[in-house]
Amino acid sequence: MLKFRIFRFDPQSDKEPWYKTYEVDAKPEERILDCLNKIRWEQDGTLGYRMSCAHGVCGSDGMRINGVCALACQKLVRDYADAREITLEPLPFFQVRKDLMVDMEDFLDRVRSMRPYLVREGAPPEKESLQSPEEHTKVEDVIRCILCACCTGACPVMSENPDYVGPAALVWAYRYLYDSRDCAFESRLAKLNEPNSVWPCVNHFECTRVCPKSIPVTKSINFMKREIKKRLPEKSQ
Ligand code: SF4
Ligand code: SF4
Ligand code: FES
Repeated sequence: MLKFRIFRFDPQSDKEPWYKTYEVDAKPEERILDCLNKIRWEQDGTLGYRMSCAHGVCGSDGMRINGVCALACQKLVRDYADAREITLEPLPFFQVRKDLMVDMEDFLDRVRSMRPYLVREGAPPEKESLQSPEEHTKVEDVIRCILCACCTGACPVMSENPDYVGPAALVWAYRYLYDSRDCAFESRLAKLNEPNSVWPCVNHFECTRVCPKSIPVTKSINFMKREIKKRLPEKSQ
């Protein structure tokens, strides 16, 4: 039997967060998400958390597992073999909607502020816009982002400076800045040079450590910093 200590908070009825402990018959090869499902289906239907694909694709079950942001569907019970119990908490920095579910709107607004879509000039092409394999290579790492928000929850700068746009938004900025089919390089770079875009990042590397898709988040941010310094030397922070 494995103990799970789970953060509970319902803003409609609780004044303060509290923790509830559950015991689960958990096998080493089971995922933390499987254990959560057992708790909700067999012990406590009031427990709130998000899940969908259960295979690291949808990004909906990001949470803090024994202090580290991760997807519950990508962590196995045996990953915590040395722990006496497993503590599950919502992503730090985010507002809690209920228990392990957080409000994603502000996070998504930050991503949207980076215009996560192709900006084109002139008439749209009659067929799809093509990209060579070499051009695709430039963005193939960052294109894997599933918007799980683990990086943003893990970034220590987010609590010190809530206006920092955060690592996930910067991953999406990189993805379109270097897309060969995009026509807004200059204005995207100017946006990245704003005080709360790339510059508050101080290379903690926490974002890179926790990213479930192994995206080189910090490296991408540093690459954009160097791009700004090269192209906008007199204007960079
Ligand atoms: S590298 Fe930058 S974005 Fe990533 S955790 Fe550190 S400060 Fe935050
Ligand atoms: S960069 Fe990685 S950790 Fe951040 S939202 Fe995307 S997939 Fe999740
Ligand atoms: S449930 Fe979809 S990523 Fe975990």
